[in-house]
Amino acid sequence: MSLNIKKIGVLTSGGDAPGMNAAIRAVVRSCAFHKLECVGMFRGYEGLIEGDFKALDARSVKNIINRGGTFLKSARSKGFFTKEGRQKAYDNLKKEEIDALVVIGGDGTFTGAIVFNEEHDFPTVGIPGTIDNDINGTDYTIGYDTALNTVVDAIDKIRDTANSHNRLFLVEVMGRDAGDIALNAGIGAGAEEILIPEEDMGKDRLIASLRRSKKSGKSSSIIVVSEGDQIGKNIFSLAKYIEENMESYEVRVTVLGHIQRGGSPSCFDRVLASRMGVGAVDALLNNERNIMIGVVHNKMTSVAFSEALKGENKLDLELIRVADITSI
Ligand code: F6P
Repeated sequence: MSLNIKKIGVLTSGGDAPGMNAAIRAVVRSCAFHKLECVGMFRGYEGLIEGDFKALDARSVKNIINRGGTFLKSARSKGFFTKEGRQKAYDNLKKEEIDALVVIGGDGTFTGAIVFNEEHDFPTVGIPGTIDNDINGTDYTIGYDTALNTVVDAIDKIRDTANSHNRLFLVEVMGRDAGDIALNAGIGAGAEEILIPEEDMGKDRLIASLRRSKKSGKSSSIIVVSEGDQIGKNIFSLAKYIEENMESYEVRVTVLGHIQRGGSPSCFDRVLASRMGVGAVDALLNNERNIMIGVVHNKMTSVAFSEALKGENKLDLELIRVADITSI
């Protein structure tokens, strides 16, 4: 056990994700269990720069495991991009005698942690919290499962209208650079087509495939489009193109937007967040630094931040085949 860690700070940064509260709760209670002090920082790295801190004990995190969002609030801090901002953050940590940090967020959060560590050599452990699931070194990020369920629930409802009116619906889902939400929710909701940034389907192939579906007897269709997909200029121009080339269909567009980030976390996300929160404090006590906690094949792991941010996409392309076969 590490002898030099007595006080741990915790913050959430970047886009919020359901389950972040459960992760904070696990960090705070883990600190209480190990008789360490815990301090919450508000609005991510912004709060670190401004010294917006609050001591948290086991009771401060009661009744939050079921709540979406993050009670510590989140931000994409501009100040933390600057050397002066990071220096202020470091000075605040020293002033408060905080020995280590747990940062909960996505790629921006971990990029910030890497730079901060390079300059100030401050012990930091990351927990992946983003609905996009676009982080390496973990099979799942916190919030992803809840977002999938939200999307599937929404598409189930859209399907009722699509069916009743023989319409084609384009449904845009989140995932700036990653198709995980689109591909998995698309399969789960039985979408006819799924457009993701990792694979360029091309407009012609899309139209040919829609024509085949129509010919085989389908009277309505759902196309799930990841927000990062490049096939049309945007989802509305793609809808126009389809309408011009598929005379027999009325086309409608639904952009699901931020409803995907909200809501009560699924049981899966609550358990994942609890395991990762406990794992983050364990890692600090075992003298691990500048790593992200992950879950791979259902086992807790850790990887260097740089590894977590590696560009390769871990999307399972076999899923595209599954989608193609099951939507025939
Ligand atoms: O949390 C990640 C993400 O959901 C992306 O998929 C999306 O592009 C982005 O957040 C939008 O976030 P905001 O509206 O907070 O800038």
